[in-house]
Amino acid sequence: MALSSSPSSSSLKSHTDSVFFRIQYCYMFIPLLLFASFATVAAGAQLRNVRCLTDSSSEDSTSRRTRRSLLDNGLALTPQMGWNSWNHFNCDINETIIKETADAMVSIGLAALGYRYINIDDCWGELNRDAKGNLVPRASTFPSGIKALADYVHIKGLKLGIYSDAGIQTCSATMPGSLGHEEQDANTFASWGVDYLKYDNCANTGTNPKERYRKMSTALLNSGRSIFFSLCEWGQEDPATWASSIGNSWRTTGDIKDNWDSMTSIADQNDKWASYARPGGWNDPDMLEVGNGGMTTEEYRSHFSIWALVKAPLLIGCDICSIDNVTFQLLSNKEVIGVSQDKLGAQGKKVKKDGDLEVWAGPLSGNRVATILWNRGSSRANITAYWYDLALKSSTLVDARDLWAHSNQSSVQDHLSAQVEPHACKMYILTPH
Ligand SMILES: *[C@@H]1O[C@H](CO)[C@@H](O)[C@H](O)[C@H]1NC(C)=O
Ligand SMILES: *[C@@H]1O[C@H](CO)[C@@H](O)[C@H](O)[C@H]1NC(C)=O
Ligand SMILES: *[C@@H]1O[C@H](CO)[C@@H](O)[C@H](O)[C@H]1NC(C)=O
Ligand SMILES: *[C@@H]1O[C@H](CO)[C@@H](O)[C@H](O)[C@H]1NC(C)=O
Repeated sequence: MALSSSPSSSSLKSHTDSVFFRIQYCYMFIPLLLFASFATVAAGAQLRNVRCLTDSSSEDSTSRRTRRSLLDNGLALTPQMGWNSWNHFNCDINETIIKETADAMVSIGLAALGYRYINIDDCWGELNRDAKGNLVPRASTFPSGIKALADYVHIKGLKLGIYSDAGIQTCSATMPGSLGHEEQDANTFASWGVDYLKYDNCANTGTNPKERYRKMSTALLNSGRSIFFSLCEWGQEDPATWASSIGNSWRTTGDIKDNWDSMTSIADQNDKWASYARPGGWNDPDMLEVGNGGMTTEEYRSHFSIWALVKAPLLIGCDICSIDNVTFQLLSNKEVIGVSQDKLGAQGKKVKKDGDLEVWAGPLSGNRVATILWNRGSSRANITAYWYDLALKSSTLVDARDLWAHSNQSSVQDHLSAQVEPHACKMYILTPH
């Protein structure tokens, strides 16, 4: 179950003398501090100035409260990994593309690295429901139906995702949304063997999102099938604060675009919700653009590294049937994926900002710390993470593993520095001796 491996339980308890973990713990339950510290980071100060006054005596009751509030479907122990049709294909999809994507996922080795969900986005259905009010797969593009696709994908050991909308039409306005048809549609998805629902926010009639999303959540729980629930509410009503009992992930931002400004701004918007992520429910800064062509290799490396560190869903958004070597290398870095899928499930965050030079970090299982030195500026620069920034004692000796160079520095003390190219990053796991 999601609940037993919550980061607020035993794993954090063993680190209560570390400022880093203490800060993280406090953020979880004192949103006010979160905002205060976010503001100081944004202003160029460092997290070291933050003081957390809470002791650990309230930990047991707060973690119990947290557990009760999680969606109890047993899914999303680690952030979801897979593929989604939207970022590359938009509306131009058909069952051949979905099948070939499933084939490629397995044949090029991405499935073995953990990418399991094959998610169909908008535009899979007919404009109107049938006479009984059921959603209907679009005959011209999905003539075999969704159940046949689910069967196809399942035989390959993968899972099938589908898309609907908490409104009267989907965002493409080419098919119905599920508002007012939640139970019927959840039952339809379950009968087709669907494993995942992305639930969008268009044409929503102004109804409160908490009601609209909760209705579908309940319908899915009652459908008799275990279905991952991905809320796509665009972060409008701060879903991090209420969606953990409703879904397995919730979008914290508007749609990503395939460019540097969009990606970086979304990373920043998502950062302030870090304390709300945990096994069972994750912040979602939207799907990956890696491989779609709008950013440089170093920008995509930064995109993928940050998404892994912040425990974002790793949903590939390019055409993996024609994937190039560089894109494949980025998406298949096992060590970076390992940070995303670490069992502690604590979202890393921005811990230091000095102009365009940033340090992001977060705790991993086994007392390790993941950190990224990120150069968001346009000229080469040296970036230093001090142990103070990472809540390590300055005397601590660590082994530093560079996850992109696949190289080690042993017995590093006090700080770690690297020269970082424009828009590039370095990513490390630090293992204290
Ligand atoms: C599916 O879409 C692709 C890409 O647009 C197209 O090349 C292919 O012909 C389509 N196949 C079917 C069966 O519609
Ligand atoms: C891509 O990788 C394959 C296999 O390693 C190699 O044969 C091919 O030459 C590479 N292509 C390019 C463009 O580097
Ligand atoms: C980075 O640090 C190295 C070693 O201290 C130094 O040689 C180099 O000039 C520095 N580069 C920049 C861009 O500051
Ligand atoms: C480098 O570090 C990794 C992870 O800390 C470790 O598994 C590996 O054995 C190290 N390799 C060498 C050559 O020291």
